[in-house]
Amino acid sequence: MDTIGRQVTAFVTLFMVIALIVLMYGIFEPQRRVAAAQQQKSSSIERGAELFAANCAVCHGPEGKGIAGAGFPLNTTQNHNGDAKRQAYLQTTISDGKLNVTGKLPVMPMWSEANNGPLNDQMIGDLVNFITYGDWTEVPALLIKAGTPVAALPTPPGLGTPIPSEVAAQYQGSGSSSAAPPPAAGSDPGAALFQTKGCVTCHTISPEYPSGGQVGPNLSTIASKSKIPDTNPTLPVTPDGLKTWIRDPQKIAPGTVMPSFGTDQISDQEMDELTKWLLTHK
Ligand code: HEC
Ligand code: HEC
Repeated sequence: MDTIGRQVTAFVTLFMVIALIVLMYGIFEPQRRVAAAQQQKSSSIERGAELFAANCAVCHGPEGKGIAGAGFPLNTTQNHNGDAKRQAYLQTTISDGKLNVTGKLPVMPMWSEANNGPLNDQMIGDLVNFITYGDWTEVPALLIKAGTPVAALPTPPGLGTPIPSEVAAQYQGSGSSSAAPPPAAGSDPGAALFQTKGCVTCHTISPEYPSGGQVGPNLSTIASKSKIPDTNPTLPVTPDGLKTWIRDPQKIAPGTVMPSFGTDQISDQEMDELTKWLLTHK
């Protein structure tokens, strides 16, 4: 082979080697990036679990199961693998806090730095990732590691005392109220009470609130049931049976996360309207 021929061969070989490298890079780089993103997400979930153990377990329970009268359960099907809308709701609620539906302490604190809270947006994002994708059974072990085993968790602060007016005032006009579902269509006072008293955060009831919470049972056909509640079916589904349940669920189903609604929360007249409306759902 002459010199030119050898040069051409060398050039072609070099070109093919470079092409191969570029091709391999093209094939493996996206995989590498996906792996890096997954790694980043799993460390975010880990950080979220630690933040939850340190800041949230006291009111929402060590495994996110909720504590009656304090924090709602967070280990719900609605939150698990929640879509972008649900995750945005979690981010807003954690940032801006929330008054307690029972009208008593504790309230959900405002956590974001924008609200003079202790957590930055990334930390709140880590919490949202943990609530959406994490493993709740990890929290008790983290609590032990931090020196506060589950048994040593204090009672939620202020549990059961009326919300002081200066605390309530802080929540006026905060973003949290806009996260509440819109008022029901129609003008039935019972339907309005179901929303304003916070039942809708835990219960779905069609047709008025088809996208309510899923912490408690769906109430769309409540009037067709023979007895309530599911875990201890002893009360008849009548105005009085419902009233007994709503006033003091702990008495019938000890440990349930459904809070009690005393007369300071729902007046007797409102209770009549609410139960009458519930009983129209057959
Ligand atoms: C002092 C008690 C307390 C602490 C601490 C607390 N929460 Fe809450 N949280 C509440 C209460 C009370 C509510 C329910 C408000 C209501 O009645 O709608 C709530 C509601 C929520 C909700 C909305 C649930 C829903 O389905 O609407 C989320 C999400 C939440 N908390 C997350 C957290 C996270 C994350 C932390 C830790 C950074 C935390 N909470 C710490 C008391 C607390
Ligand atoms: C923090 C969440 C939560 C809130 C707020 C809440 N509930 Fe419940 N509710 C539950 C849970 C959980 C159960 C299931 C109790 C059981 O079976 O032991 C339940 C059960 C019930 C039942 C019995 C349903 C059945 O099929 O057995 C009725 C009726 C009911 N709730 C009505 C209401 C009304 C009315 C309100 C508002 C005044 C309300 N709930 C607020 C969580 C909640």
